[in-house]
Amino acid sequence: LVLVIDFGGQYKELIARRVREKNVYCEVVSYKTPIDKIKEKNPKGIIFTGGPASAYVENAPTIGKEIFELGIPILGICYGGQLMAHLFGGKVTKAKTREYGRVELNIKNGEDIFVDLKNHSKWWMSHTDYIEVAPVGFEITATTDHCPVAAMKNCEKKLYAVQFHPEVEHSEYGREMIKNFLYEVCGCSGDWDMHNFTEASIKEIKEKVGDKTVLCALSGGVDSSVAAVMVHEAIGDQLTCIFVDHGLLRKDEGDQVEKLFKEKFHMKLIRVNAQERFLGKLKGVTDPETKRKIIGEEFIRVFEEESNKLGKMDYLVQGTVYPDVIESGTDTASVIKSHHNVGGLPEDIEFSLIEPLRQLFKDEVRKVGEELGIPEEVVWRQPFPGPGLAIRVLGEITEDKLHIVRESDAILRDEIRKANLHREIWQYFTALPNIKSVGVMGDERTYSHTVALRAVTSSDGMTSDWARIPYEVLEKISNRIVNEVDNVNRIVYDITSKPPSTIEWE
Ligand code: XMP
Repeated sequence: LVLVIDFGGQYKELIARRVREKNVYCEVVSYKTPIDKIKEKNPKGIIFTGGPASAYVENAPTIGKEIFELGIPILGICYGGQLMAHLFGGKVTKAKTREYGRVELNIKNGEDIFVDLKNHSKWWMSHTDYIEVAPVGFEITATTDHCPVAAMKNCEKKLYAVQFHPEVEHSEYGREMIKNFLYEVCGCSGDWDMHNFTEASIKEIKEKVGDKTVLCALSGGVDSSVAAVMVHEAIGDQLTCIFVDHGLLRKDEGDQVEKLFKEKFHMKLIRVNAQERFLGKLKGVTDPETKRKIIGEEFIRVFEEESNKLGKMDYLVQGTVYPDVIESGTDTASVIKSHHNVGGLPEDIEFSLIEPLRQLFKDEVRKVGEELGIPEEVVWRQPFPGPGLAIRVLGEITEDKLHIVRESDAILRDEIRKANLHREIWQYFTALPNIKSVGVMGDERTYSHTVALRAVTSSDGMTSDWARIPYEVLEKISNRIVNEVDNVNRIVYDITSKPPSTIEWE
């Protein structure tokens, strides 16, 4: 285990990912974590993140000096490095020249973290403060034109500090430097991978559950699917899954979910066909937030009713993933998701939780899915909002409108896949703006619906850009939708980024 101690840096997640990429397990904790807790975890190495504060001002995030006496190697990045310098009596001040962007680094020698790295390479800098004077006992190991101490070390105490950001792509040898820290300095063996993780988790779940019963709300999304299959591997028929079909899923999706989990994995799955119930509640409703609220509440009600029928169940499986844990678990998190998944269950629910993916990033969840034999189209599924097509039919929802969105969306997905763009584009779907316009088909005037195509690239859904789909692909999609879906005579492509738009239309 390597511990990343977070001082409010925007790259904490990225650092954790870089460490895991080198097959070393890694957790992110707040700088406020008591030293005993850190000792208990017995990490092989510690990394201090960057952060927005100045190490020398009052109330800046700091850490007890005992941490430096544990004999555990520590790498301080940016603010983390400045804090190390400050706590050891070096001088940290506002830099005369602020460095931002790729900067050339002069490495003094190729030892420890710099083993086998090219001198005069380019590294990503983003700082206002810098270490002006290294503390006594520290040796300067790299400089830049504007940074007298771009890196320093104290070999005896195994402490390392760098001003630049090895974790970001723009640093030429960033990955190698992190690898050096993990392997050369901390002596990590690099044997953490998804295969071992999956096996160990299955064993752990088996021991934890014993002969008790487990319930899972399965949506067919990546996280809940992987979590459910993993738990099923561990305890078989002691697991029951409830799949609420609210009638707002994509074309054939409900049947596919049912088929996959029943036929391929032989799981106990209860499909609740609540389509009419949801549509009834949504009748006449046009406001997007009201739609979300109705669907969310109804979902909980249906789930409760079904689980009551099963009698008392002991555990509940949730597909919580690591970014959710980081966001709610560290003291410095500033970005908070604005959407609660519709799968979100009531807070007073009486279950102990099993969260087998709590420690994993999305790409790792996908790898576990592959390990478990879950088909590619589920493992690589694009994000799909809990309220489903309800927020893609603008205004009031009717069966006819849902039909248009469902069919046009299926065509779009088919063509994107044929064009082999499905892994490049983060999310792609159609929406029905609720506009009718005039067209001509054959010799007839038509007055029909407009379908909007939406396709975006993104890394986390918080910001996005519209995908540059080749014209020929757009043309094919447009032709097919107009020809194959009744009541549509116009196709438009949404070319706004987020912000100022959002990805969904409601
Ligand atoms: P927006 O439209 O806000 O969407 O740019 C960002 C991401 O979140 C998804 N989304 C939702 N997911 N419940 C969900 O579970 C919702 O109410 C919801 N609204 C949007 C959206 O599909 C995109 O991936």
